[in-house]
Amino acid sequence: MKKDRILVTGGTGYIGSHTVVELQNAGYPVVIIDNLSNSSRDVLDGIERITGQRPDFVEADCTDINALKKLFSDYPGIKGIINFAASKAVGESVQKPILYYRNNLNTLLNLLDLMTPNDVKGIVFSSSCTVYGEPDENPVTEQSPIKKATSPYGNTKQISEEIITDVINSGAPFKSVILRYFNPVGAHPSAEIGELPNGVPQNLIPYLTQTAMGIRKELSVFGDDYDTPDGSCIRDYINVVDLAKAHVIAVQRMLEDKSDEQIEIFNLGTGRGTSVLELINTFESATGVKVPHKIVGRREGDIEKVWANPEHANKVLGWTAGSTLEDTMRSAWAWQCKLRERGIM
Ligand code: UFG
Repeated sequence: MKKDRILVTGGTGYIGSHTVVELQNAGYPVVIIDNLSNSSRDVLDGIERITGQRPDFVEADCTDINALKKLFSDYPGIKGIINFAASKAVGESVQKPILYYRNNLNTLLNLLDLMTPNDVKGIVFSSSCTVYGEPDENPVTEQSPIKKATSPYGNTKQISEEIITDVINSGAPFKSVILRYFNPVGAHPSAEIGELPNGVPQNLIPYLTQTAMGIRKELSVFGDDYDTPDGSCIRDYINVVDLAKAHVIAVQRMLEDKSDEQIEIFNLGTGRGTSVLELINTFESATGVKVPHKIVGRREGDIEKVWANPEHANKVLGWTAGSTLEDTMRSAWAWQCKLRERGIM
């Protein structure tokens, strides 16, 4: 049976592109909208090389409601939306709060506004473990308290969850699945797509792989005096392909009315906490490549430790993050090597 068309906003970005691959592999026709502010058209070639299909692509900004209206009329029959389109750098959001509130909230409002007139059955929203702030207890469940956001970026995720809840509670005729990601890392095993941040990477893995490649002199480990076994911060690093697969399950769930709930929230993590120093060791042993690093002071705003209790997603979605951290590190390295081969990095 022919599957319904899915709109993926931000579909040329890091998590978006991996999700488009999994959607196409599962037989869903995809249309991507992306303004290419933090990605490039070449990503479409990577997706096509992996899946044998080129997704439909519209270069436009989701804050432009007229562009979205045109998209819905040019591509009829969209039944599901996955909303990745958002600005995502925590530090930048402190400097440019208006940009963050405008991009992240107006995009969501426009999409929600157009769902009912276009008969869209559901929206998957990219949320974040950032909503838990510094948790009182680990692992965190979906019922763990939501803490006051520590950045405008984090606040957009909290407000977005509230907007979706209010709209659904007002009687909107569609469903939503909110996915709270922990730390997505790695790349597609084909090394055709992966994470490609603009400029100097802010996140650990791209900085680490660029250091291993010799592009950066050394990796700074932000703090070794935290209350953790080795003193460095702990996160739950989840493989990006595992993460992408959860979106396909969430879309199916909404489109096939598998749940009586109109709104559902899931943590997407592995359930394992890994420290920064452990992660460096794992990368080195998995790839055989050394990562020069030094301990520096703490980074402002960092959470000491957070990892997921993913049991709700395991049970209800029948999904687990199955990849090993070693394989994930090898995939991140293969992607970095591919960028070098292509003369990009
Ligand atoms: N780190 C270093 N050195 C670096 C970069 C990071 O030691 O050069 C450490 C950080 O201190 C932290 C860990 O590596 O302990 C992970 O840092 P990231 O910047 O990779 O990720 P964060 O956990 O800070 O943030 C990520 C996303 C955010 C999101 C947040 C929670 O980048 O967008 O998870 O969802 F909000």
